[in-house]
Amino acid sequence: MAEPAPAAGENALVTIAAVEVPPRGWDTATGPGQAYREFLECHALRVAHERALWGNLDRCDTLEEAVEYWRGNEYEERRLYLARRGPETVGFCSVTLPLRENMHTAGIDVLIVPGRRREGLGRALLDHAEAVAGNSGRTSLGAYHEVPAHAAVGPMLPAKSGAGGLPLGDPAVAFAVAAGYELEQVERSSRLALPVPPELLDRLVTEASPRAEDYAITGWDDACPENLVQAYARLKATMTTDVPIAGMDWEGEDWDPARVRAEEQTLVRGGTRSAVTAAVHRATGELVAYTVLNWRPGVPDSILQQDTLVTSGHRGRRLGMLIKVANLKRARHRWPSARSVLTWNANENQHMLAINIALGFEPAGYEGEWQKRLG
Ligand SMILES: CC(C)(COP(=O)(O)OP(=O)(O)OC[C@H]1O[C@@H](n2cnc3c(N)ncnc32)[C@H](O)[C@@H]1OP(=O)(O)O)[C@@H](O)C(=O)NCCC(=O)NCCS
Repeated sequence: MAEPAPAAGENALVTIAAVEVPPRGWDTATGPGQAYREFLECHALRVAHERALWGNLDRCDTLEEAVEYWRGNEYEERRLYLARRGPETVGFCSVTLPLRENMHTAGIDVLIVPGRRREGLGRALLDHAEAVAGNSGRTSLGAYHEVPAHAAVGPMLPAKSGAGGLPLGDPAVAFAVAAGYELEQVERSSRLALPVPPELLDRLVTEASPRAEDYAITGWDDACPENLVQAYARLKATMTTDVPIAGMDWEGEDWDPARVRAEEQTLVRGGTRSAVTAAVHRATGELVAYTVLNWRPGVPDSILQQDTLVTSGHRGRRLGMLIKVANLKRARHRWPSARSVLTWNANENQHMLAINIALGFEPAGYEGEWQKRLG
């Protein structure tokens, strides 16, 4: 699997080699040792970076999740490359290649160890990742990175979406700009301290319920009931077209029950638990809204908010609030140790942000969505 690729110019001594990902079912508990050492090194670099940036690992994949993710699947191929200069590990880069839709795009990431920055290594790894993407026929490259709220100070680079910006003084911002990437969109990450006062949740439900009498709330843990999976797949597809994506060059995804099941199984294998709450239109039996929370036993303090969607014909009836409150209650019951929920929303997504603010979410950071078109 390891195919050393020479880096260009002054970093000719850098070796960039493809990383072998452990097989599914690999026992992460007995992991360390020589087997899959490069993979473990990449993971350790990611962990150290997340800890330095946030002071915790709330946003970081666990090792189990990382194995699942980097193995890829029939919907996306994922490649990881470790960079060494002599015996010293200096960073990694990665390329993700969608295989069903968005086959003109690739996701790119680069990480250089703190002591080796500003030596041209980031550029060398980025060149490598872009060449891999270009050789796979990809013409539109996407990348993202996060800046904690306390670091979002000084002169800002405005997002092309017109909503928000990122600090020009941030190394990753300067790096992305220098490499020809454009800041298409900024997402806000927000944190909700748990537990939410029950009286607040009750009041929000009381206020919202009169507008939503035509709907029933349902939900499930980890696996969608068989009788709802077709409808759930349709909602998952809608999610990929209805969220604001600013100028990102992405097309919608095709979801069917097999894709839903594949995602559920990936989460379970990676040790991730899911709580889903959905809304059903009583008159038609149609599934019209859903929201997902994830929790990892390895990161017991933290819950991650995933998708939330109300389909277009059913908006304005407070379903967004009702499903979110119901899912927070479900999560509280299942994962009482959790102390926070983290969520990400486009700065221009005012309706979603308004619901989150009413629930008590507060800004934690900003994520830039970068894009570069090749050739
Ligand atoms: C962003 C990152 C990958 C840059 O790696 P690096 O090895 O320091 O980058 P390079 O030395 O190749 O820099 C290339 C160019 O980027 C710009 N740049 C990089 N870091 C910069 C900084 N701190 N301040 C100003 N410009 C900077 C410069 O234009 C630089 O060219 P120059 O040195 O000729 O002026 C590195 O800071 C990092 O790993 N950060 C954490 C992870 C991350 O945010 N990754 C980006 C994901 S999109």
